[in-house]
Amino acid sequence: MKKPFIVANWKCNPTTLVEAKKLFNSIAKGIKNACSEQDRRVEVVICPPFPYLSCSMFHVSCFKLGSQDCFWEEKGAFTGEVSPRMLKDIGVEYVIIGHSERRRYLGETDEMVNKKLRAVLAAGLNPILCVGSMKKEKEGDFEIKSQLKKALLGMKKTDIKNIVFVYEPIWAISTTKGSVVATPENTRRGATLIKETLAELFDKSVKVKVIYGGSVDSANIQGFIKDANMDGVLIGAASLRPDDFIAAVKRVDFISKTC
Ligand code: PGA
Repeated sequence: MKKPFIVANWKCNPTTLVEAKKLFNSIAKGIKNACSEQDRRVEVVICPPFPYLSCSMFHVSCFKLGSQDCFWEEKGAFTGEVSPRMLKDIGVEYVIIGHSERRRYLGETDEMVNKKLRAVLAAGLNPILCVGSMKKEKEGDFEIKSQLKKALLGMKKTDIKNIVFVYEPIWAISTTKGSVVATPENTRRGATLIKETLAELFDKSVKVKVIYGGSVDSANIQGFIKDANMDGVLIGAASLRPDDFIAAVKRVDFISKTC
């Protein structure tokens, strides 16, 4: 089994640096106690909001640091934007691109996603590309394929291997305490759709990581990693609950060591 990949997307939380440090500390301590760094079989990427990214405390060897977004230009008169180069300079390694909340609330288009993806790769960072539809199963396939094709326009096969793809059925994101979650079958189907689209666009030998995002917590994570055989998960709400997040990481570490 490949080393599973867990992304903690804190979204617009928490509201103060003190709380962010406290959250980070609890997660770091809990994970260290649960599974030692040397033999840990899971990669954890923490994605806090921009203002916390340069906090020295977040730059530790046991986690990778990720940003939730970035701009496509390196510098210039683009008020409010943060460039991939700036992120790289402060030690960020991953960047989430095209999250459904940015597409929905900020009007992010496929064209913008494509520009961001290229800029992130050019800066030597690793993109975490989110695709997903509000429609269930087959009805959403066209939209997901179209998002992928537009996001990857003009890219080469060599670029693709550095991208982590996230299958995010939008109907399953941020449901109350995981009340509406994709089943392992839904998830496996979504991952297959992504892999088939990439094989169509490039060729069959292209190997990528495909992870799942949508109301994942410690209680349901096993289904996605073990039953659906995903390469990892992106966790939103549950990554703000240290006990839940630590238990999720611990479970995946165990699965990874025993499967
Ligand atoms: P959630 O977020 O875990 O809160 O549903 C997941 C996501 O944003 O993909």
